[in-house]
Amino acid sequence: MAPKIAIVFYSMYGHVKSLALAEKKGIEVTSTDRLRAAGGTCDIYQVNETLPQEVLTKMHAPSKDDSIKILEDPNILEQYDAFLFGIPTRYGNFPAQWKTFWDKTGSQWHRGGFWGKYAGLFIGTGTQGGGQESTAIAAMSTLTHHGIIYVPLGYKTTFAILANVDEVRGGSPWGAGTFSGADGSRMPSPAELELAEKQGHAFYGAVSKVNFA
Ligand SMILES: Cc1cc2nc3c(=O)[nH]c(=O)nc-3n(C[C@H](O)[C@H](O)[C@H](O)COP(=O)(O)O)c2cc1C
Repeated sequence: MAPKIAIVFYSMYGHVKSLALAEKKGIEVTSTDRLRAAGGTCDIYQVNETLPQEVLTKMHAPSKDDSIKILEDPNILEQYDAFLFGIPTRYGNFPAQWKTFWDKTGSQWHRGGFWGKYAGLFIGTGTQGGGQESTAIAAMSTLTHHGIIYVPLGYKTTFAILANVDEVRGGSPWGAGTFSGADGSRMPSPAELELAEKQGHAFYGAVSKVNFA
């Protein structure tokens, strides 16, 4: 049976959302020059905002994309086999909005509702060295306590991009990533989007090997 995958992200300024859409493309791709067909499907969700509109306005945050469902109820994730989580960094760690979602998962924690499911991560920071890897490492504790199996991006399908030091680029073997710049004006680059697409594709390939029946 094909794995049921949910992409779940938080994005204040849209950069992590762009990566999320590229991850989705990588899962669903049926043919491109770069990738053999994955042909999977996935659903995409955003976690709820927790900051008041007054603060969001002061932070120049644009309106959320209404076309992407808001994940209020963690029970919804129990129907999925695997997740790709998109996280923008806050001080080298995950944001309160992401933590607030997980703080609602006490029921899954004690019942093992997410136990044995699979997850990959992709991350946004403002700058190089701003904490993409530390954010991934911080997320390991949440995955571990739920018994969720982490699937790293690694280098197998991404070596050419990850080993290229001729251009500035987010992402690492921990997962795809993007730099938004200190003022948020830098958009995900073609290499960052390609990395995210490749992660979606490889993640689908990895979890497809598991028998979820
Ligand atoms: C309160 C706050 C803390 C942040 N901390 C960091 C940080 O530690 N390192 C960094 O590189 N960027 C940091 N940033 C920048 C965000 O990571 C960046 O805006 C985000 O990844 C953009 O993704 P988005 O457009 O999907 O929201 C911070 C932003 C805010 C608002």
